[in-house]
Formats: sequence, C-alpha cells, structure tokens
Amino acid sequence: MTSYTLRKGAPEKTRADVVVVGVVRTAKGPQAAPGGEGVAGAYGRKFAPLLSTIGFTGRLDETALVPTGGTIKSPLLLLVGMGEAPESGDVDPSVVRRAAGVAARNVSNAASVALALPTADERQVRAAVEGCMLGGYSFARYKAAPAEAPAEVVLLTDAARTKAAGRAVEVARIVSEATGLARDWVNTPAGDMTPALFADAVTAERKARKPTRFKITVTDDAELRERGFGGIIGVGRASANPPRLVRIDYTPRGATHHLALVGKGITFDSGGLSIKTATGMRTMKCDMAGAAAVVAATFAIAELELPVRVSAFAPMAENMVSGDATRPGDVLTMYGGRTVEVLNTDAEGRLVLADALVLATESKPDVVVDVATLTGACVTALGDRVAGVMGNDETLVDQTVAAGERAGEALWPLPIPPEMPEKVRTYSTVADLMQHNVDTHGGALYAGAFLQEFVGDRRWAHLDIAGPAFNNGGAYGHVTSGGTGFAVPTLVELALDLAG
Ligand code: BES
Ligand code: MN
Ligand code: ZN
Repeated sequence: MTSYTLRKGAPEKTRADVVVVGVVRTAKGPQAAPGGEGVAGAYGRKFAPLLSTIGFTGRLDETALVPTGGTIKSPLLLLVGMGEAPESGDVDPSVVRRAAGVAARNVSNAASVALALPTADERQVRAAVEGCMLGGYSFARYKAAPAEAPAEVVLLTDAARTKAAGRAVEVARIVSEATGLARDWVNTPAGDMTPALFADAVTAERKARKPTRFKITVTDDAELRERGFGGIIGVGRASANPPRLVRIDYTPRGATHHLALVGKGITFDSGGLSIKTATGMRTMKCDMAGAAAVVAATFAIAELELPVRVSAFAPMAENMVSGDATRPGDVLTMYGGRTVEVLNTDAEGRLVLADALVLATESKPDVVVDVATLTGACVTALGDRVAGVMGNDETLVDQTVAAGERAGEALWPLPIPPEMPEKVRTYSTVADLMQHNVDTHGGALYAGAFLQEFVGDRRWAHLDIAGPAFNNGGAYGHVTSGGTGFAVPTLVELALDLAG
C-alpha cells in the first residue's frame, strides 16, 4: 500500500527516488509548470538546453526520465508534458489529474516519489492524488508477479497542512479507492463474477470497511420470482448462475436529500437467443460496470459521511442461452405489473433496470440516477470516452454533466425526443410496452425512453456508460486498460453537490 503525504518543501532539495515535474508549452518554448520552478531554477540556464537536447516539447502525456547527476537532491527527474500553458497561469485540475496519472505509470521501480506538479489549491491537490492513485492502478488477482507500487508518494505543495488540502487528500483517497474497487469487479472474469459471487463480493467489502448506518439486502432468485421481478428473472433464467438483487441503504442522520442509484449488473452478456458475435462478446464481462459503479460510489459516500441518504439498487443477472431462455416475442411482466414485449434478448439491460427503477421509486427519493453499459448506439454517437446523459429534468442532467466535469469525467447530454416514448408505448400489439426499437437508428434514445416509463414522476437521470466503462486499448492519463470505474467519481461529486 502506497502512503500519500503532503509536505511543504522545495522539490530541488527533496530526496526521493524520483521527482516529478510538469512541463507546459509557452510562446517562449517549454517551461516548468507551477510547482516545478525550483527544479528549473536549480538547473538555471541549463534547463532549456536540457529539454531541447532530449527533444522534450511539453505536449500532453509526453514523458522523459532524466538522471540529475547531483543538480538536484533526487537522482531522477521525471518530466511530464502538460500541454499549452493556460493563459490564467492556473492549470486545470483535469490536466493535473492526467499528468499525475501518466507519472504514476512511468516511475517504475521507484520506492519513493515526490510530485512537484501544480497543487496551489485544493482542487489541484485532489486531482494530483487521484491521478496518481488511479494511474498507478493494476489488477493483480491472476498475475504471478504483480507490479510493485511505490511505498511512498509525497505531494510537494504550499497548501500542505491547510485543512482544505487535508480534506482534498481524504476525498481523493476515498474516491480513488472506490473507483479501484469498481475496476477490480469489472476486470474480474465473468466466470468468477456470477450474480451470486458479485453479491458476495459486495457483502465482503462491507465487512472489510464497516461503514456505519449502512445496510445491505441481497434478494435471491426464488424471492425475485415470487415478488414478480419479471425483468430480472426473464433475463437471468437461461443461466446456470441465478440472478440476485442487491440493495444498499445508507441512512445518515440529518440527511438533506435522498438519492436513489440504480446500476445495470449483467455479469456476462452473451446476447441470449439474439446472440452476439464472438467479437461482440469479448468484453462483455464489463456489462456489470453500472452496478459496480453505483455500489462503489455508495461505499464512498458513506465513508465520506455525506448527509445524503442513498438507496442503491443493483440487479444482477447473467444473459445466457438455454432451452429455457426468454425468446424474442415473449412477454414479461415487470415488477409493478407492466407488461413488455421482448423483441431482442440482447437488449436485456433495460429489462433488469425497469424492475429496479420501479423498486427504487417506491422509497420516494428526490433524485434517481441510473448507470448502465446500455447501448452500442451511445458508443457510436459519443465514442468510447464520453458517456451519454438523458433524463426527465434538464437541471438534473446539467448538474450531472457539471459534476462529471469537476470529477474529471466526460459526459454529454442526449435528448429523449417525443417520438421515442410514443414508439415505446405503441409498437407492441400484445403488451403495454415494446422493449426494442424496430427502427435502425436512435437506439440510445429509445432505451432512455423505455427506462423513463419506469421512473414515474421522480427526477431522473440516466447515464449510458457503454463506451467509457471499459478501456479496450492502452492506458491514457489516469485511465488504465480494462475496467475504468467510470461514473464513481461523478456520482460521489453529485452527492457532494447535493450535500451542499
Ligand atoms: N451490453 C450491451 C451494450 C454494450 C455494447 C456495452 C458495447 C458495452 C459495449 C447491451 O446489452 C446490448 O447488447 N445492446 C444492444 C441493444 C440492441 C440489441 C437494441 C446493442 O447496443 O447492440
Ligand atoms: Mn445485450
Ligand atoms: Zn448488455
């Protein structure tokens, strides 16, 4: 476990295995970013030639490890590019987070690291710690020789010992640990993360953390069937691994708001009888990322002791094929009694979410937010680093996008145009609602319109994270390969916002 401490001190006089300094691009060429001036000063007139000799320009994500030969106290200097110097001189926290993430992956073998990045205010301090913790994440469960993390990271900042900076480190630690927890769950192969095992993992985490005023309820398949959760049962029935519904209630004293979180927990999505292609299935262990995010965020909110009541719901099912699978054309009765005609068994997320949304609204929350790897159409629209946000309340959608921006996650509003609910309600000739869009386009919006049918008059936002939940490529910034833990920081930020 890496320790994180804040210290006020000159980076050029600090002794660590590596000192990290940012470099920004200016009209006068690359220069040390705020926080790194002391190191540049120690090199004096030799700093600019050093950069030009190694061809360092300061572009985003660029790195160079330089032996210091005694110019500063530490033997190695890691330069990290931070892009164009901001006109205000104030580096955006998201740039700090990204640079710290890049740094964390380029200090291999260092036991001690000193970060001399821009950390003048608490937002930058938080971003630096988050970037470092998340960029240094690795999933070691199945590796014989896991990578070593540094024992000690020291953040050199003038804000050290201020109350605000201390709290910023605390928030960063809690948010990053929760994001790492969600990454671990998503990265765990579906064979080791069946609905029952996922529910067990959530319960085990509670035992490890002992949050207060925190209750977990796990509902098994027999009870789900008996209580009429037709969506969860319909999706999970073909699997040898029966479904579960995990509910968490965090009920702090003096709560000012009540937030309901709902996350899609498909532990593996084969598509069911509307089966996916082999390549389409490859990463489908990630289809429980929404559930992982809402559960991990709820742990973080409780650990931060925010005065926001949270009711989290994670419907967990495995979408498989068997002689008893739900067929296209079948009609399911959702929790609460509405009937749905299934047209495509690969549009399973909305079915398990419908049950959970109805249950979530029963406790009359002020705000409902669901998170789901719901549609490939959303990835087509926004790419794989941006989540779509829909909802029935423009203010809440905007608030969610803004929370994401502060938390370092990209979200973008998408509409639910009036023809979509119209289609949902009229396409089926046998049931109340039609599950799946018969038209080719607008799949993300149709899915949003379908979910909207189940939230009643609650204020609601829907996050489609099908793109950013899983990183198929190499690491970038603080985002490592595989599960990203996307939405955990945004949900915690939203709760911080509600808490005021
Ligand atoms: N889990 C998928 C969506 C998905 C796609 C997540 C890519 C992550 C990456 C979802 O259940 C699904 O299969 N959606 C279908 C819906 C369609 C059948 C209406 C899709 O997007 O193709
Ligand atoms: Mn599917
Ligand atoms: Zn799915």
